[in-house]
Order: sequence, then structure tokens, then C-alpha cells
Amino acid sequence: MKITKRPRRLRLNQALRNSLAEISVGANDLIAPFFVVDGKNQKQAIKSLANVYRLSTDNLLKDLERALKLGINSAVLFGVVDSEQKSALGKSSHDHNGPVATALRAAKAAFGSDINLITDVCLCGYTDHGHCGILKKTSQGYIIDNDSSLEHLAQMAVMHAEAGADIVSPSDMMDGRVGAIRESLDSQGFNNVGILSYAVKYASAFYGPFREAAGSSPNKSLEQEFSPPKDRKTYQMDYRNVRTAFREAKLDEEEGADMLMVKPALPYLDVLARLRPQTSLPLVAYNVSGEYAMFKAAAKIGSLDEPLAVHEALTAIKRAGADLIITYYALEALEKGWLD
Ligand code: PBG
Repeated sequence: MKITKRPRRLRLNQALRNSLAEISVGANDLIAPFFVVDGKNQKQAIKSLANVYRLSTDNLLKDLERALKLGINSAVLFGVVDSEQKSALGKSSHDHNGPVATALRAAKAAFGSDINLITDVCLCGYTDHGHCGILKKTSQGYIIDNDSSLEHLAQMAVMHAEAGADIVSPSDMMDGRVGAIRESLDSQGFNNVGILSYAVKYASAFYGPFREAAGSSPNKSLEQEFSPPKDRKTYQMDYRNVRTAFREAKLDEEEGADMLMVKPALPYLDVLARLRPQTSLPLVAYNVSGEYAMFKAAAKIGSLDEPLAVHEALTAIKRAGADLIITYYALEALEKGWLD
């Protein structure tokens, strides 16, 4: 057979390949995550997350400046508090002097609207039981009290808005939280504060390192008659299902979300790609801690060429339909020139 069709012609040199590339990933596509703590001069290593630290506000400002210099426009902040500050109702989640509020005020004073500051809205880092909602005791044991959790989440979102958040990002997966947060923000005059909803958040093994970073694993042994649920499966989604993703996304859009998230990213590219044509809202994918930890571990033992693997993975997430990607690689990948 005479070969006349030769797709390889378009791949024969780097210049041609570059000019034909459909997808590129750069600073504008990335959101950098940061863990923030109280105090000064804190830079606490996290065992399961190489190169990621819990930072006090002074050190956070240095990293935000680094991020801005690299062209990153957005950061998401996760508050981490000591166990003495945790309680059944997670009251410290809406403390105006907590680490997130302190960081927001300082970052806004330093960088103003140059940086888009997103905050994680969830109770798990602030409750003593580690759940994302409030627990209620019933004759069957503890259950997550969806509706009373909403008030706490809304209060937390308003506190973040008061401290300067541009966008609040509920990650708790309670029903109705986007609507409750939108209503509270609007009634307090924060109609310009956006909501990035973790709409499609699966109950995943890939959040393990994050829970070490935030000290937020569920079911730390409490001296109670019944122990609370050991996992988040009554609120985070079952990974055997995809239609539930479409339903969650639609509800959050109807309740007023401005952007939707799919999480985790790499094992869920099918979900992202199938959700893409169903909404005109921007989609954000979270390349979560366990995905990052796998890459780091493989790179460390020489099994993976880290720069190439990171470029490929982030490109794939964008190709599947993400407008923005939250990744612990954001600063490192840009600083070391791994991206486009
Ligand atoms: C809080 C929250 C979690 C993550 C983001 N927000 C943990 C969880 O739901 O258990 C995970 C992020 C990551 O793994 O990088 N609910």
C-alpha cells in the first residue's frame, strides 16, 4: 500500500508542534493553595506534602508576592488552628482574629486587587470531631445535621467577606449551602463576593495528605457514647456515580454559584469532560494533595520525570475542560519553567 496520509508531518519539529498546540498551561490557569496558621515566622513542614508548608501571615505575604511575580492571579487559603481552638460547633471557623481573617486583611492591605483571594469555607478544620458539618445525636448514633451546619458555613463566609475575600469556596458538601451563603452575603452587602462551589466533590482517598496538613480527619476518638461516622461518605459523593455530579452542579448553579469545581482532578477527568458541555460557568479542577504526593514520591525515587509529568498532567486537566486548576505545583512549576 502506498502511504499518502502522513499525520506525522505535523509533528516533525518542535516549532510546528508549538504552533499547532491546542492547549497551553501557564500562570493564568493556576490557583495556588496555601495553609495559614496563627503567629509569626511560622513555616511548618507537612510530612506527606513535600515542599508545602503551613505559613503564618508574614510568610504567606512573601509567597503571595512570589506568586504574583510569576503571574499567578489567584490563591486559595485554608485555615489551620490548634486542637484547643476546635469545638463541637467549630466556632473558631468564624473568628475575626483567626488565621484566615488575619491573612486576608494583611494580603489585601499589601496587594489589593492585584490578587484574587479565595477562601475555603468548611468546618472540618475547626470541629473537634473533624466533620465538615455539625453533628447531632440521635438514637441511632451521630448524624450530620445538614441544616444547622448551613448557618455556621454562612457565618464563616460572611466573616471571610468582611476580612477581604474576593471569592468564598464552600467545600463541605452540605445540601443548600450555596443558596444559604449567597443569601447571607447579599443581605450583608457583599453582593460582589463570588462563590466558587466545590460542586462535584467525591469522597476520595486522595485527600489524605491535606488532612494531615489541616489536622482535619474525621472521627478523632471522642469520649462519646456513639462514635461519629468514620468517613465523609454521607456528604461527599460516591465515586461509582457520575449522574450525581450533573445534579450537584446544576443545583449549585441554580443556587447562585459563580464557578463550579470538580475534585479530585486526575482520576475524574471523565467527570470534568462530561460536565463541561452542561454549564456555561467556569470550571475549576482541584489537583488534590494525594495526586501531588504521588507525583512527588515517584519523582523522588526516580520513577517519573517530574517536569514532564507535571506539564502533561496539568495539560490533560485543562484539555478535559478545566478553565482553572488548583495545584500545589503552581509556584514550583512556574519558577522552574516546567509550563508553557
Ligand atoms: C475541606 C477540604 C478538603 C480538601 C479541600 N477542602 C479535605 C476533605 O474534604 O477531607 C482536600 C484538598 C486536597 O486534598 O488537596 N473539606
